[in-house]
Amino acid sequence: MSQQNGFHVAVVGATGAVGQQMVETLVKEKFPIKKLTLLSSARSAGKKVVVNGEEIIVEEAKPESFEGIDIALFSAGGSVSKELAPEAVKRGAIVVDNTSAFRMDENTPLVVPEVNEKDLHNHNGIIANPNCSTIQMVVALEPIRQKYGLKRVIVSTYQAVSGAGASAVEELMEQTKSILNNQEVSANILPVKSDQKHYQIAFNAIPQIDKFQDNGFTFEEMKMINETKKIMHSSELQVSATCVRLPVAVGHSESVYFEIETDNVQVNEIKALLKDAPGVILQDDPENQFYPMPADCVGKNDVFVGRIRKDLDETKGFHMWVVSDNLLKGAAWNSVQIAERLVELGIVKSK
Ligand SMILES: NC(=O)c1ccc[n+]([C@@H]2O[C@H](COP(=O)([O-])OP(=O)(O)OC[C@H]3O[C@@H](n4cnc5c(N)ncnc54)[C@H](OP(=O)(O)O)[C@@H]3O)[C@@H](O)[C@H]2O)c1
Repeated sequence: MSQQNGFHVAVVGATGAVGQQMVETLVKEKFPIKKLTLLSSARSAGKKVVVNGEEIIVEEAKPESFEGIDIALFSAGGSVSKELAPEAVKRGAIVVDNTSAFRMDENTPLVVPEVNEKDLHNHNGIIANPNCSTIQMVVALEPIRQKYGLKRVIVSTYQAVSGAGASAVEELMEQTKSILNNQEVSANILPVKSDQKHYQIAFNAIPQIDKFQDNGFTFEEMKMINETKKIMHSSELQVSATCVRLPVAVGHSESVYFEIETDNVQVNEIKALLKDAPGVILQDDPENQFYPMPADCVGKNDVFVGRIRKDLDETKGFHMWVVSDNLLKGAAWNSVQIAERLVELGIVKSK
């Protein structure tokens, strides 16, 4: 995997659900790597990881870890990013941050390459990767916004447990086994590890992702609302969200209602637009029961769209079903794609 002309890349949180996918994606996409440094907390330091046949020892992330790094992909939680991303930048690295630490900072671009790649040029060393459920929705909405204008979006999500990290996937598996064996179920992680109450996710649906805010929305819902407006540069766009956790391991699904600004647009025109849209795969054939499902999208980089219908009452309203692998387009792939664009645009240079 080492290339002389490549970049020294660090993955922070390399042992986590997203971090592991980042490493795999860097290899799969043949990102030009001169050296790969894998960082975690002290808990996983010393662990050996085999990457493309080469053994790499995971190190504890410290400010000095970023000496000589060109690109640092962060996915170790907001507090780690707040502390260490500025240290990486100070040492000359460009950071692509997967956490919510800098997303709404007005000097930090929040980028989905299919939507707002041009924002990459206005960075101060940190590029934020949006929330997973926001990314897949804006990839599907942007071509529609560009052609017909977008007035309003109402989304309900059906989110996988891997969105809450590797320990949440373990919890789903353990609870499922317990229930099938008639044993007592314990819940310690979901809906939010640091919140007061925890609920069973196996054979259940939990209408809480992240903590409740004073306005009655959860923080995940507010991320979808605020990040969509920022990525689309549209403060007047009306967005509302309800985010729900389901007992699915990987792959977020979304029911998206949107209203456009143009009259007399037919559903086939929306389908034709999405068929050719970057990063989108149209799977829409109700007659043959063909529509996207999370089990089919695992391991794929694309955003899958189906069930496109015109609203029966609102002439400018449409519905669609949007599915994507939350660990790939929702996190690792979007980050690596940003890194690829930074290289291709000459924004990042090897030291
Ligand atoms: N899962 C998703 O779909 C998704 C999507 C977008 C963004 N994100 C964001 O990405 C971040 C990580 O999510 P995840 O799902 O991968 O979580 P995870 O599976 O719990 O992994 C957390 C990772 O962070 C490391 N870490 C924890 N504390 C650390 C510290 N003090 N210093 C350095 N490394 C530390 C862990 O290392 P140890 O092995 O040493 O504990 C582990 O590698 C979160 O901020 C999350 O919001 C997740």
